[in-house]
Amino acid sequence: MPPGLLNLDDYEREAERRLDRPVYDYYAGGSWDEITLRENHRAFDRISLNYRVLRDVSERDLGTTVLGSKINLPILVAPTAFQAMANPEGEVATVRAAGRFGTIMIVSTLSNRSVEAITAAATSPVWFQLYVYRDRAATRALIERAAAAGCRAIVLTVDAQVWGERERDARNRFRLPDGLRMSNLFADKEDFPADVAGSGLAAYVASMFDASLSWADLEWVRSVSRLPLLIKGIVHPEDARLAVEHGVDGIIVSNHGGRQVDTAPATIEVLAGVCEAVDGRIEVHLDGGIRRGSDVVKALALGARAVAIGRPALWGLAVDGQAGVEAVLEILRRELDAVMGLCGATRVEELGPDLITPSSGGRPGADRSES
Ligand code: FNR
Ligand code: LAC
Repeated sequence: MPPGLLNLDDYEREAERRLDRPVYDYYAGGSWDEITLRENHRAFDRISLNYRVLRDVSERDLGTTVLGSKINLPILVAPTAFQAMANPEGEVATVRAAGRFGTIMIVSTLSNRSVEAITAAATSPVWFQLYVYRDRAATRALIERAAAAGCRAIVLTVDAQVWGERERDARNRFRLPDGLRMSNLFADKEDFPADVAGSGLAAYVASMFDASLSWADLEWVRSVSRLPLLIKGIVHPEDARLAVEHGVDGIIVSNHGGRQVDTAPATIEVLAGVCEAVDGRIEVHLDGGIRRGSDVVKALALGARAVAIGRPALWGLAVDGQAGVEAVLEILRRELDAVMGLCGATRVEELGPDLITPSSGGRPGADRSES
């Protein structure tokens, strides 16, 4: 680990130093005023941990299961596009790092390295994040390709049918750097439209993604593949209820890291309400603003099965490739282990809402069984 990089914010500052401005801005930025981007983490800071003592925490285990897969750490790697802008190995380095920690990587539709190259390097389960294109035949082929490559679940992102304007990308006229491509589909017409002002990615999305997507289309996705289906981008309890009714296997509470609806609530603020609506019928995961082990403890205490990190993995990748992603995961692992022990818990299932002070943003919850 490079000296002096003690926490995830240190990794961000070091990555900022190393990356070209448009790349850093694309990774770091959010939509419009970036209010949700900032709130995602700040909301964690407003929640207090009402810790317990004298519970013998000498042996601690951070493992859990997600959709039936055993993982060693309740921290997944969220799907983020274009990882080869951070390091030439791109997603392949990230998946190797995730494997070293026995956790899951979610591969973006917009990965630079192909889904086959990524699953070939994986030693833990890989899930595939899906964007639905207007070209449904191409989308079908993409799902089939991900399944054939060995991906173990489909994560359908549902908060990006319209693109949130990222003003940093518009100012920088963001484009994929020379020599990089999207590798999973549209090999013949994949480059961003060259002639547009503003963000090339925004233009690509507007012309390619299917804004007509609706609940009825979940059946279509399922008809293409029997893989477990999660939907990513839920913040409203009513949508969580609809997701259960439509038979999905899990949901990821997410606001796309503050890149879509600006002034959307911080994900940690809506988690308890979503979990109440879901009522244990399917798994609920969360991403957005996880930067400390205590953030993970709070999300698990408020009902998340696991969390995912987006930007922090990119910062690790930019600083030191696979080793950098491993360093980021190790920092979070160590912090989570310490905070769990300090809160009197030895297993992640013991983290419950009784640890969250109600007035600090959580909800009053049932006591843990053995209090
Ligand atoms: C994303 N995100 C994202 N989500 C998705 O479903 N498909 C994608 O291709 C991408 N791409 C992407 C690129 C970049 C640079 C970022 C920062 C984010 C959203 C991502 O999966 C996740 O929801 C957030 O990143 C979580 O917030 P944090 O951990 O970055 O705060
Ligand atoms: C993003 C994508 C690609 O947020 O989802 O940039």
